Amino acid sequence: PQVCWLTPEQTAGKQKPYMYTQGQAVLNRSFFPCFDTPSVKCTYSATVKVPEGFTAVMSATSWEKQKDNTFVFKMSHPIPSYLIALAVGDIVSADVGPRSRVWAEPCLIEAAKKEYDGVIEEFLAVGEKLFGPYVWGRYDILFMPPSFPFGGMENPCLTFVTPCLLAGDRSLVDVVIHEISHSWFGNLVTNATWGEFWLNEGFTMYAQRRISTEVYGLAYTCLEAATGRALLRQHMDNTGENHPLNKLRVVIEPGFSLFPGVNPDDTYNETPYEKGYCFVSYLAHLVGDQSKFDAFLQAYVNQFKFQSITADDALGFFLEYFPELKEKGVDSIPGFEFDRWLNTPGWPPYLPDLSPGEQLMKPADELAKLWAANGLNMEAIEAVDIAAWRTYQLVYFLDQILQKSPLPEGNVERLSKMYPKISKAQNAELQLRWCQIVLKNDLEAEYSKVKDFLHSQGKQKYTLPLYRAMWGGSASARALAMETFSATAPQLHVNVQNYIKKILGLKVAE
Ligand code: BES
Ligand code: ZN
Repeated sequence: PQVCWLTPEQTAGKQKPYMYTQGQAVLNRSFFPCFDTPSVKCTYSATVKVPEGFTAVMSATSWEKQKDNTFVFKMSHPIPSYLIALAVGDIVSADVGPRSRVWAEPCLIEAAKKEYDGVIEEFLAVGEKLFGPYVWGRYDILFMPPSFPFGGMENPCLTFVTPCLLAGDRSLVDVVIHEISHSWFGNLVTNATWGEFWLNEGFTMYAQRRISTEVYGLAYTCLEAATGRALLRQHMDNTGENHPLNKLRVVIEPGFSLFPGVNPDDTYNETPYEKGYCFVSYLAHLVGDQSKFDAFLQAYVNQFKFQSITADDALGFFLEYFPELKEKGVDSIPGFEFDRWLNTPGWPPYLPDLSPGEQLMKPADELAKLWAANGLNMEAIEAVDIAAWRTYQLVYFLDQILQKSPLPEGNVERLSKMYPKISKAQNAELQLRWCQIVLKNDLEAEYSKVKDFLHSQGKQKYTLPLYRAMWGGSASARALAMETFSATAPQLHVNVQNYIKKILGLKVAE
């Protein structure tokens, strides 16, 4: 399952085949022999020979092209097995900063350069100011073929990202800020087991939003965090708050005979990200002073760099670093016990204050209310001009509409006509929400949008919610799901294929 082999038709350029690997969480064991646990770190080197006309890239601190299409790579820092990654294809590069370049198929390279020229270095510099030295040398980005199952994957020195990030207006850079943040949280300080994946992702979400606050301000960052909170709400509603995976510390166990067990890949849901973010925000709230908490994060990275740790190590260090908090017994405040955070499923007991984003959220809230009404007040609706809204404001607006859906008969059709900027959007975050609204309101006239979107990319977080919505919908929505899956399955990552099969009640091969 680890190595993805793509035909020319499955690439952006449609000329040459492509191959890439995806290690996280436990796929690299089928790529090379290894101790495939995040608790073990080592350096590596690799020699890769490719056919004429192809380029190989890896998550390595140095690479060198030798004769005979042979590439030699070395990673000089110890890393866990899941961060070793290789891609081979018709790929070229362009510089976008003093230590950064973008890699992509030739037909995408101009767009990639335009989207990222000059911005990466700013994110790296802010990250270094907040969390300490960037130790990995280069930070490059590889734009993957459309079926890449993630928004981004933090392979050291060379982040892999979905081509959906090429929105043309830099509106989706938060994904790159997220992957850059893993340079400290995840890649330097690593969760020792996949049962505590939140240590990687919760700290990274916090770091991402710290960088975003410095670069784009608090209002915008709170708006982005509010869309994250909406995703957590949707996830908990879908799975039930008490689902065992809705704890920060989850039990991972092998399956046998009739017991399915828990695969670490199944822990990839909103809980480690957004509940983890809430927990780290709660720790910051206990400290009460942003600069003191920033200093703690830097000390934490310095203390545990190149190591793999448990939540007990992290929280123990927190209490040692702030002895006055330890004395006060902040780890056992009723209702907010660290133990409860880790071991009780459900909605986070503490939510960070996102009210600084209100100025951006309120107009969207109000407009959503107008559209959800029986008998539309078109005068009030037409008075709101969304032309200048940022992408995340539109995303927030659409999440509100989705929550209120199904809307009264006819409202969504009018909304679609009124805002082509939304219903004909090319931005993937907007397309996802629009497709969800189409399905929740069973707007058959726009089913083709769902189909086109699912044909155009294979990101897990876009694909699964749409299959869940189709399968929970009308007979024709279910037919759309079956038809779309049989047409797109061969181009999807095998993990994504299997998750869809589960949703559709199809048999999954062992
Ligand atoms: N490391 C993850 C991707 C991942 C998680 C791959 C689990 C395999 C198993 C990456 O850093 C990530 O979180 N990507 C997000 C970005 C988002 C939170 C900004 C994604 O792909 O959606
Ligand atoms: Zn991440």
